[in-house]
Amino acid sequence: MGTMTVTLHTAITDDAIDTLFREARTVVAFSDQPVDRAVVGEIFESFKYGPTMMNNFHETLSTTFPHAPNAGKMFQDREQRGYLARMNASLQMGYFIIAARAHGFDVGPMTGYNGPAIAERFLSDGDQDLLAVVALGYADESAGRPRSPRLPFEQVVEFI
Ligand SMILES: Cc1cc2nc3c(=O)[nH]c(=O)nc-3n(C[C@H](O)[C@H](O)[C@H](O)COP(=O)(O)O)c2cc1C
Repeated sequence: MGTMTVTLHTAITDDAIDTLFREARTVVAFSDQPVDRAVVGEIFESFKYGPTMMNNFHETLSTTFPHAPNAGKMFQDREQRGYLARMNASLQMGYFIIAARAHGFDVGPMTGYNGPAIAERFLSDGDQDLLAVVALGYADESAGRPRSPRLPFEQVVEFI
């Protein structure tokens, strides 16, 4: 039987891709190991560069989008603003999850939670809204559930 060598075209190592995606699992139970807040800062310093539309908040465009500070006019409609905020915050959540894994953490994102209780505890500003909760820590390896399948490339990708 012959063998075939396939060259992987990756900008990071194949092991790193395993860490970020192929072997990373959503965590449903965490160990007692504490989270170092300094490392949370490191996560922020990397994931903040993930691209979002105008780097996000319409009230801070003079800082985050200085070449077009008047772009805030695009956000006058509250409904449109909410839609864009949720879309971009969803992107940021994805970047956060991957950055956390890159820094050796496990994460447990969820939208099934007691929204009113969380809002009362964490949201002081009536202008804020909950998108999701992402628990951060180190997995309790004894807990978990089997990996659910994903749809195959052929089913979800179309070259146009
Ligand atoms: C935005 C978001 C919301 C989620 N909400 C829940 C949830 O409410 N309850 C839950 O058990 N898992 C939740 N999950 C976990 C997903 O079901 C899980 O990440 C997915 O099945 C992949 O699992 P795996 O990493 O183990 O393959 C959520 C994931 C994301 C990204």
